Amino acid sequence: KRKSGFINVHLRKDFVSKQLSSLLMNGVQPPAIGKRKKVILDFSSPNIAKEMHVGHLRSTIIGESMCRLFEFAGYDVLRLNHLGDWGTQFGMLIAHLQDKFPDYLTVSPPIGDLQAFYKESKRRFDTEEEFKKRAYQCVVLLQSKDPDFIKAWELICDVSRKEFQKIYSCLDVTLTERGESFYQDMMKDIVKEFEDKGFVQVDDGRKVVFVPGFSVPLTIVKSDGGYTYDTSDLAALRHRLLEEKGDILIYVVDSGQSVHFQTVFAAGQMIGWYDPKVTRITHAAFGVVLGEDKKKFKTRSGDTVRLMDLLEEGLKRAMDKLKDKERDKVLTPEELKAAQMSVAFGCIKYADLSHNRLNDYVFSFDKMLDDRGNTAAYLLYAFTRIRAIARLANIDEEMLRKAAREEVLVLDHEKEWKLGKCILRFPEILQKILDDLLLHTLCDYLYELATTFTEFYDNCYCVEKDRQSGQIVKVNMWRLLLCEATATIMAKGFDILGIKPVERM
Ligand code: ARG
Repeated sequence: KRKSGFINVHLRKDFVSKQLSSLLMNGVQPPAIGKRKKVILDFSSPNIAKEMHVGHLRSTIIGESMCRLFEFAGYDVLRLNHLGDWGTQFGMLIAHLQDKFPDYLTVSPPIGDLQAFYKESKRRFDTEEEFKKRAYQCVVLLQSKDPDFIKAWELICDVSRKEFQKIYSCLDVTLTERGESFYQDMMKDIVKEFEDKGFVQVDDGRKVVFVPGFSVPLTIVKSDGGYTYDTSDLAALRHRLLEEKGDILIYVVDSGQSVHFQTVFAAGQMIGWYDPKVTRITHAAFGVVLGEDKKKFKTRSGDTVRLMDLLEEGLKRAMDKLKDKERDKVLTPEELKAAQMSVAFGCIKYADLSHNRLNDYVFSFDKMLDDRGNTAAYLLYAFTRIRAIARLANIDEEMLRKAAREEVLVLDHEKEWKLGKCILRFPEILQKILDDLLLHTLCDYLYELATTFTEFYDNCYCVEKDRQSGQIVKVNMWRLLLCEATATIMAKGFDILGIKPVERM
């Protein structure tokens, strides 16, 4: 039936019911994608010896989740950590390393705090003329691949790498390291290719490339002959397109770098590396992280927040919350620990993912750990409660599986019908995110699913008990199946968001 401007679609109950049975029997199916394509995701990408800050945390969380979504949908995903592991800063770091740990070639230098080490060398670079000169020589020697200097560089990278890995382990994030250094040898050819095609202009000793539509050119060679962030991103783009043969390239980097990426992509198109009608290249930008005062996220004393400290604070707050609810009295120590990690890391991730990534976002432990509203804490509790319904009715998985095959899912009650339809929307939500890369849609959906479930549960008895004795008198199996279908979708949703639910919390 058509009304003006609308097409009304009426779903048949038996169709929805069959779809739900199939979901229970076959598990959650990803949306159909056709040919298996290769996705290259550039995310996290912190810089060696510098602070891995909350911006990198955002990129890490969002990027990981996008990878999980594409993997579930059947894409071939390459997760790249484009580390800032090359550049002139290594000159001063190596010069300082030589002074502080002269025997670094034979004894691994015990650099505990690389940040402090960086600051020291920077201070010397700015104040000591001699040191500065030597730092420049170190850069030259490193670039000429002198083994002792490569060794020093590797040692410094290793210290950072270990720090980054701690964060990745906590957050259960996997990446393939392919930093800027990887592209160094390709840059000469990149410059030549642009020169050969007549795209290079010399300006004040620099080699620049103007790209149609952009007023500021890319600098591909500095006046001292060195390469830049632009050059390495051009090399990376070319490599991802022509060597890796990526069909979809995604860069999860803060919005501040938007012009940089748009110019680099346009340059790649100009020189003929790809056709945007065939290859999809996206800068999946995100806003800045703000403190509760709506200013740039800082510690009380005004320093940048160390990510490990932040994660530890999350753990502490999660434990306080669990103890407030006296969960420590019901859970075993192992269960409590698992719940703590699940809540802490789940909440930090969810808080980020549930906001539209394009906006700035306010980091607040109080909000993210609140178990009311659209938070991981709320969803995790909802999930454990749903999972417990069947268990408390003494229905085990085997019985549920059998019922899924044999029972018809009745959807006569208005709330059963509403829940059933909500459950089936999941693949279409995923399809939308594969297109626009906005993960908050998934969070909004899971929240809606949880509240729709609550409406259903409040109105429809799943298990009927005798008022006096508390004995179970009737189990409404088709409703338990609806619980099960809800939980299945939630579990898959959590998995894509990188959240680990627990059996008991
Ligand atoms: N290391 C850069 C930063 O910290 C991010 C790199 C992003 N990826 C890229 N291909 N440029 O800002």
